[in-house]
Amino acid sequence: MNHSPRTVIVTGASSGIGLAIAAAFLKQGDNVVANGRNAERLQQAAVELGKPDNLLTVAGDVADPATGTRLVQAAIERFGRVDVLVNNAGIFNAKPFVDYTPAELDALVDTNLKGFVYPSQAAARHMVERKAGHIINITAAIASQPIQGVPAVLPVLIKGGINHATRALALELAPHNVQVAAVAPGIVDTPMYTADMHGFLNTLQPAGRIATVQEIADAVLYLAGAAFTTGVVLPVDGGMSSGKW
Ligand SMILES: NC(=O)c1ccc[n+]([C@@H]2O[C@H](COP(=O)([O-])OP(=O)(O)OC[C@H]3O[C@@H](n4cnc5c(N)ncnc54)[C@H](OP(=O)(O)O)[C@@H]3O)[C@@H](O)[C@H]2O)c1
Repeated sequence: MNHSPRTVIVTGASSGIGLAIAAAFLKQGDNVVANGRNAERLQQAAVELGKPDNLLTVAGDVADPATGTRLVQAAIERFGRVDVLVNNAGIFNAKPFVDYTPAELDALVDTNLKGFVYPSQAAARHMVERKAGHIINITAAIASQPIQGVPAVLPVLIKGGINHATRALALELAPHNVQVAAVAPGIVDTPMYTADMHGFLNTLQPAGRIATVQEIADAVLYLAGAAFTTGVVLPVDGGMSSGKW
């Protein structure tokens, strides 16, 4: 580690990409506040992550405004400040547009949209006061490169909106030395997909394979250390969003 320990909040850290991001920061010597909805699952992840002196778990639904506040308050109480917020918690639901139910729309808005807004508001208030911080959103390559064989209008709508919100919030917070960026993964090897789906999923990227969680975590680590990079949406997608193939 070539920097003093940072404090990093990672939402959705009990599984997949979020778990890998939490592990990557802990490996660098940083402090992590890990969030997930299911407290038991989050506790299992904490055991897997180790480093109890540098790790705090805060269970809660990111759609609840109180969770964002609790995450930031807990980070300040235990570690003194928040340097980085990673808005990673997310769900994906691919189906024909006309088949989405109101309950499915609500679920996507709750986790994927409100789960960006509320933790970001709580973190931004603190970061603006400190005149330092990074907010990093995990979006999706499919938001800028929809795929005909994977109908997913509602996830595209929300993740695409967050890509644009990333740029708008970056402009708003730039005078306060707070950087806002996004990582847009292609398909990633996480529990979101079962192994029998990998053959098809490999075909969705020009690279011919899906990403590892470490490849997404590496992009987040880069952005968390980038003082003059803001408002970018960084694709980590094996060429998926580069054009038609
Ligand atoms: N996997 C991919 O191919 C892929 C591709 C592009 C983008 N992404 C994005 O990457 C992010 C992580 O995906 P993943 O594949 O790692 O997912 P995952 O393995 O299913 O993990 C999702 C994590 O989010 C948490 N979570 C879900 N809803 C939550 C809520 N309302 N409040 C708090 N925590 C919540 C889950 O915890 P609980 O179980 O406790 O709810 C879990 O820790 C998502 O934003 C997803 O859209 C994934």
